[in-house]
Amino acid sequence: MSFTSVGKLAPLPSGQAQNVRGKVVLNSYSRTRQASGSKSSAFNSGAISLGVHGKRKTTSQKCAGVSASLETGTKAGSPLDIIKNDLTFLKTRLDSDNRESAEVQKLQEKLAVLKEELDLAHEEVHDSENKVKKTLSELNQLEQVIGGLESVGTADVKTPSAAPSKASSGQKRGKGLHSSLEMEPGLKTFWYPVDFTSALEADILKPVELLGETWVLFRDESGTACCIRDECAHRACPLSLGTNVNGKIECPYHGWQYRGDGVCDAMPSTAQCKGVQVTALECREEDGLIYVWPSLDKKPDVGVPSELLAPPGDKFIIHSEISLEVPVEHGLLVENLLDLAHAPFTHTSTFARGWPVPDAVKFQLLTALGGNWEPYPIDMTFLPPVMTLSTIGLNQPGNIVRNVRAQDCEKHLHQLHVCIPSRKGHTRLLYRMSLDFLPWIRHLPGIKKVWRAMADQVLGEDLRLVLGQQERLLQGGDTWMNPVAYDKLAVRYRRWRNSLGDKDSQDQRLEVVSMSAGEMLKSDE
Ligand code: FES
Ligand SMILES: [Fe+2]
Repeated sequence: MSFTSVGKLAPLPSGQAQNVRGKVVLNSYSRTRQASGSKSSAFNSGAISLGVHGKRKTTSQKCAGVSASLETGTKAGSPLDIIKNDLTFLKTRLDSDNRESAEVQKLQEKLAVLKEELDLAHEEVHDSENKVKKTLSELNQLEQVIGGLESVGTADVKTPSAAPSKASSGQKRGKGLHSSLEMEPGLKTFWYPVDFTSALEADILKPVELLGETWVLFRDESGTACCIRDECAHRACPLSLGTNVNGKIECPYHGWQYRGDGVCDAMPSTAQCKGVQVTALECREEDGLIYVWPSLDKKPDVGVPSELLAPPGDKFIIHSEISLEVPVEHGLLVENLLDLAHAPFTHTSTFARGWPVPDAVKFQLLTALGGNWEPYPIDMTFLPPVMTLSTIGLNQPGNIVRNVRAQDCEKHLHQLHVCIPSRKGHTRLLYRMSLDFLPWIRHLPGIKKVWRAMADQVLGEDLRLVLGQQERLLQGGDTWMNPVAYDKLAVRYRRWRNSLGDKDSQDQRLEVVSMSAGEMLKSDE
């Protein structure tokens, strides 16, 4: 049944309906509003009696109710009003159903779009996975190529990793070489230059630390250099804080006096104690250096190496003598001094300014042709236990000549470095510089300060590097992971040094070898 409002029909009394060709036509003038009231009032009319009590009516039930109302013509409220109300409810309900259906459709469309996007994302992830796999495969191939190149190279240097204590994860090439801050007992049976003659004036006391023990140098009544324990036998006061009284050290605490052989022969304000003494070391003085022998168990079986330490020939004059405290293990410093290859990289603002980096290819070529190539005219020597020597050939002060050996040069600069192992991780460096030309410059006012400033600057350039090495050693690093050809003199030192810690190694002497820069840098070892 459908309902149509037809305005052309004659007006009917309010609340009546007219059947027009099988259709019920509602009177457009009926006062439905007066009778309709609320939706619930419509269901409380006579039509409600046909409904299902206590439950919401279904659409068919509501339609049945409408028909019944029409047929019975119930007076309780206008049937037309009731019908109109029911129709209004039905329309609302249908509209609501339609809206819900439209929303469901929209959601379905959205779901379809999301599904498409998800499929697309899956494809992209799949593509990325393939790309990562391909890149990893290429990296693998690259590693193999690099590995091949390294195996034919001359300097097979491993790249340090980020973790300092495991810096070189590759195979160790420096087999048998190891550095540490420990001072081997075998270091004791050598003569050590501990100061310059010029530094030990008649009335002064010079404290000296050697291999972790404290000593004091002084001159006795005859002017002979002596070395005794820097610790009073009474209350352990450092004797170096005292004074030199007629060639004896007087303790500043209670005035006990000690001779050069360590015997205490004066004890003011008390009865003399017999047999009190402190340890004294064998002490020698030659060619401007004061030597001591630190071993108490073994007496010296060799003389002091003064001739070996002196500059060659009789033309050399000492221009500078300097002592410096360096907070670095002495072996690292010795190795640094025996390392010539670092100069054009490290000392670019001092003595090696403008030095070219030696060409390994040229070395190999000239060696193959039976020739020799000397990048710098420098000879270097290590002398056990802690001395290095270098002789530099010069044309003019500060200018280095090339492709000649030091001995072929007219002028020379000679350097002695003594790296005294004072205590663990600390060195006292003695530096002596001699020239065989310009003898008069040593008289120039302020020249000593100039040499000192220069030495400080050169040491400063090295110090940050060796300090860094020491730090790495303390973190478990290895300074001898990948030695190469130009490390050969330092390797020689380190082998000897390691042998001192080897109980089975009887011979701790080392043949003294001098090397030219060309011999040191060529890759034949
Ligand atoms: S501590 Fe040296 S005399 Fe007393
Ligand atoms: Fe250096």
